[in-house]
Amino acid sequence: MVKVTVCGAAGGIGQPLSLILKQSSKISHLSLYDIVNTPGVAADLSHINTQSKVTGHVGNDQLKDAIIGSDVVVIPAGVPRKPGMTRDDLFKINASIVRDLATAAAKYAPKAFMCIISNPVNSTVPIVAEVFKKYNVYDPRRIFGVTTLDIVRASTFIGELIGAEPSTVACKVVGGHSGHTILPLISQVPGYPKLTQDQLEKVTHRIQFGGDEVVKAKNGAGSATLSMAYAGARFALNLIDAAFYGKQLVECTYVQLDSDKQGAQDTRRIIGNELEYFSVPVALGPNGVESILPIGTLSPFEQGLFSKAVTELKGNIAKGTNFVAESK
Ligand code: NAD
Ligand code: LMR
Repeated sequence: MVKVTVCGAAGGIGQPLSLILKQSSKISHLSLYDIVNTPGVAADLSHINTQSKVTGHVGNDQLKDAIIGSDVVVIPAGVPRKPGMTRDDLFKINASIVRDLATAAAKYAPKAFMCIISNPVNSTVPIVAEVFKKYNVYDPRRIFGVTTLDIVRASTFIGELIGAEPSTVACKVVGGHSGHTILPLISQVPGYPKLTQDQLEKVTHRIQFGGDEVVKAKNGAGSATLSMAYAGARFALNLIDAAFYGKQLVECTYVQLDSDKQGAQDTRRIIGNELEYFSVPVALGPNGVESILPIGTLSPFEQGLFSKAVTELKGNIAKGTNFVAESK
């Protein structure tokens, strides 16, 4: 019996994500929460002939009912970018949305695995962690920033470049989820594709700024929704398989490195002690993060990318952490 709540379920990501989750036989209750339109989305999805029960909850008064007893909470609530904006520009609106949803989860589903999609992920994950600390229910193994879209993009773009079937290209993407903080480790792709320096720089830039490509093409109508729904569902379903169905699965995800102090040692050897959160390959299991796996050796090119990422990522983390400390 696995209850999954999607917060922001009526949105551009929320609807197709819920559609994919409704197709899983591993979920018994799909609870859809938003501040608008969830009764309609829930009625629509509930006609699909899969076993899970679908319930719709709208507005703050129904948030408790939506979230209570959830095993997994997926949060794609909040505003998306328009051309010219950075993800950090979304902080002023999305920070309080995520804080309030995290507060409800801390009160009514303190053991839930929290999958955070809302941007800026580099800051919203620390916000959720700080809220859980406030309520004394914090377990760093259960809070995840969903960076799966970066991994999906890496395999697509590298696959296109080298003429390989994209889904067979496995590229770790570590760091954070914004521009220069996104660090694809192309040197470690099995059977490392021999790229020219120019190709390497271009494909790395495309992975780092893939979100901008979509924002520009949508021309004011939002950011990635369908590819994000695919990526978010992949992460949530893998987590469910590992946590509740005994599968051994690895995903790169943005976590507090303390979630596995011993496993983080290798990461710390490479990135130092300045960053509390980092996207790393994680072995998922019954407790969420079972172990943090080595990020491996960075090539000199990747080391250069990392040096560029540190200041931005550190600032984003502090901004999220301070926001909760300064909230009433
Ligand atoms: P959207 O505007 O289409 O949908 C957002 C939904 O959130 C809307 O239905 C809205 O009503 C709802 N919402 C607003 N306030 C809420 C609240 N307090 N409680 C519950 N729901 C609330 O936006 P979208 O395109 O679905 O994007 C959502 C977020 O996901 C954005 O912040 C975007 O930047 C982010 N995103 C992240 C990734 C990633 O890789 N992590 C990828 C794409 C988008
Ligand atoms: C993405 O990577 O597509 C998302 O973070 C949305 C965005 O703002 O680019």
